[in-house]
Amino acid sequence: MSTEKPRPLIAGNWKMNGLRASQSVLDGIREGYTAAVAKKVDVLVCPPTTLLHAFAVQAAGSGLYIGAQDCHTKASGAYTGDISAEMIQDSGGQYVILGHSERRQYHGETDALVNEKTVAAHRAGLTAVVCIGETREERESGKAIAVVKSQLKGSVPAGSTAQNLVIAYEPVWAIGTGLTPTVADVAEVHAAIREDLIALVGKDDQYLVRILYGGSVKPSNAAELLGTANVDGALVGGASLVAKDFLAIVAAVA
Ligand code: PGA
Repeated sequence: MSTEKPRPLIAGNWKMNGLRASQSVLDGIREGYTAAVAKKVDVLVCPPTTLLHAFAVQAAGSGLYIGAQDCHTKASGAYTGDISAEMIQDSGGQYVILGHSERRQYHGETDALVNEKTVAAHRAGLTAVVCIGETREERESGKAIAVVKSQLKGSVPAGSTAQNLVIAYEPVWAIGTGLTPTVADVAEVHAAIREDLIALVGKDDQYLVRILYGGSVKPSNAAELLGTANVDGALVGGASLVAKDFLAIVAAVA
């Protein structure tokens, strides 16, 4: 068993936000991502696909990572409107968010599909940020841990490693609502994920896979959430659209 700690990761999920003018936000993030900060924490920005290549070019040499928010399972083909993992890689992306609750909710994505997409991401050399998390109803009926464990098992394929897999625990009811679970609840879920990772990535990588918390992370609550056991970073939505706020969250680790 390795007791080495993973390098923290703060990831910004821009969702369907951002026009070309938003390159100024990335400029701001780049400016704040100094060598001293980069020593301590990895930072990832996932803009909409329209900005992926421009952001990758803009981030070159800064140490910032750029990623996408979804991919298809196939490398190419007659899938109108879809984007493959290979295309993301070709555009300069290194990461892809998969199985976000908004994809699960609005596009009917299942654990099996997320699993296949994760295989595709790995095939293209991308690191997958696999999202899991319970709904409010599931939390209130005491099923949160069981739901998260089952999503984890179903969504993470064989061949995953600490290099090509990041897990994001995002309680659906905390996303974009300003609500966050208690630190004790976050610690409980992250410990359960850590425990189950052994079956998915083996004992050498179990403690090295980054487990991010996501859902209403902001400058005011970042330090507390990021200081919780087994929380190796954050997946940030709304607050990642403003450079100053995103950097304040990064600073809560660094
Ligand atoms: P939020 O979104 O930070 O705006 O709650 C998080 C996410 O959906 O990844």
